[in-house]
Amino acid sequence: AEVHYHDFVVQATPVRRLCKAHNIITVNGQFPGPTIEAKKGDTLVINVVNRARYNVTLHWHGVRQMRTAWADGPEFVTQCPIRPGGSYRYRFTIEGQEGTLWWHAHSSWLRATIYGALIIHPKDNSYPFTKPKREIPVLLGEWWDRNPINVVRQATRTGAAPNNSDAFTINGEPGDLYKCSRKDTTVIPVRAGETNLFRFINAALNAELFVAIAGHKMTVVGADASYTKPFTTSVLMLGPGQTTDVLVTMDQPVSRYYIAARAYASAQGVPFDNTTTTAILEYDCGSSEPVRVVQPAFPALPAYNDTRAASTFSAGIKSLSRVSVPGPVDENLFFTVGLGLFGCPAGKTCGGPNNTRFGASMNNVSFVLPDSYSILQAHYQGVPGVFTTDFPAVPPVQFDYTSQNISRSLWQPIKGTKVYKLKYGSVVQLVLQGTNIFAAENHPIHIHGYDFYILAEGFGNFNPAKDNAKFNLVDPPMRNTVGVPVNGWAVIRFVADNPGVWLMHCHLDVHITWGLAMAFLVDDGVGELQSLEAPPVDLPPC
Ligand code: C2O
Repeated sequence: AEVHYHDFVVQATPVRRLCKAHNIITVNGQFPGPTIEAKKGDTLVINVVNRARYNVTLHWHGVRQMRTAWADGPEFVTQCPIRPGGSYRYRFTIEGQEGTLWWHAHSSWLRATIYGALIIHPKDNSYPFTKPKREIPVLLGEWWDRNPINVVRQATRTGAAPNNSDAFTINGEPGDLYKCSRKDTTVIPVRAGETNLFRFINAALNAELFVAIAGHKMTVVGADASYTKPFTTSVLMLGPGQTTDVLVTMDQPVSRYYIAARAYASAQGVPFDNTTTTAILEYDCGSSEPVRVVQPAFPALPAYNDTRAASTFSAGIKSLSRVSVPGPVDENLFFTVGLGLFGCPAGKTCGGPNNTRFGASMNNVSFVLPDSYSILQAHYQGVPGVFTTDFPAVPPVQFDYTSQNISRSLWQPIKGTKVYKLKYGSVVQLVLQGTNIFAAENHPIHIHGYDFYILAEGFGNFNPAKDNAKFNLVDPPMRNTVGVPVNGWAVIRFVADNPGVWLMHCHLDVHITWGLAMAFLVDDGVGELQSLEAPPVDLPPC
């Protein structure tokens, strides 16, 4: 195994998109940021120097961080932020994962421009499929004409929903359907006959995305750095945080083809952004000829509200082979996941419907990040008053879709920094039940530090009497982010074998801003994190 060293300088960088120039925060001046490559078993050491005027942390999305929770990165969960002028060395080992992950900022909305691919190659090219000719990371992102930090600050101040982005992007470029973007459209050169591996990453802040390639079928072979049973499809759907690896054979006439992505906006009755980002797959047409300038073919994409297309795609993802699902279950948890409307503080005017503020909660608790200490440090050092351990294991009320009889208490969640303690080594089964009070939509729920099996998903209320029979205990997919279907549920299972404090949240950043998060505390001693490595000496001070 090797150790790979990287220097990441967080800095303001001038860029031009959609006819406007402005400064964005980048790593090393690159947008998207640098690609990190490693092999299974390698160690990564990333020295982050903050030369920007914002606090920042970086998160290695999907990396299990076994015993290295200090390197996980979510601000005020596992570390205090790296202040302007400060630095921190993230050091961790890739254990047991292969495929596509990514990294991103985990402070405020900085991840809008601070993200990149993290690719884990198999040892000795031992792919469970024929080695692809080329491997092409395709990062889907979202672009604001304004500073995204100001967009979220304004929304937080007023309680209103934040502005939609102005474009989606592929590898940092909106593509030629947006104004002033044609000449910078991402072009991916390919050659007739070869089979390539496309590593799709949804790095958008607030949008689930459908993706398709004109004229080409895609064979899905991996998701969230786990291999999957190959299946062929013409459209993918990725929630923010999710990755999907596909093999594509260049079996079409020499020409140009669009790769296009647009929102799967499952929210009912809510205005959505239906603009489309494009990149061009360009066949090489021989040695000396100039590249043919033909109008690329456009792929068919599902309608923005095509929940059937989205759920059919997700349900098609299975583990490559038979797995042994952990059991019996020690912790049987049931968490509601939903949006709500909070009361407006007395004497103020709020930007939500009927003078409310937009909010979100899990089991009626709207998560509040600490602001002066990280939860992991507070637990490790025994600092009181930073968090409480009374996160409820079951919802306080039963949500009823049929009668639309919504308990008033769901409109007024409790705010708090509540964690749920999991016994080290316990087998955890978690039902995630969507309960939106407005704007029913799909929530991509991500757990830090863990991969989990998705045993079943469905619409309506989860009913153990009939839905337990639907569990896939043979080849369920292993992922780090599950799309809880709109007005529906998902059941996941994992072993709490990694000590630390692990954030679980909706990966739509607007929802985490509203409190759609909680944290698990996995302790492997009696009130002591025994096998967790000691905190690095340069852990940023709180
Ligand atoms: Cu992709 Cu909390 O992270």
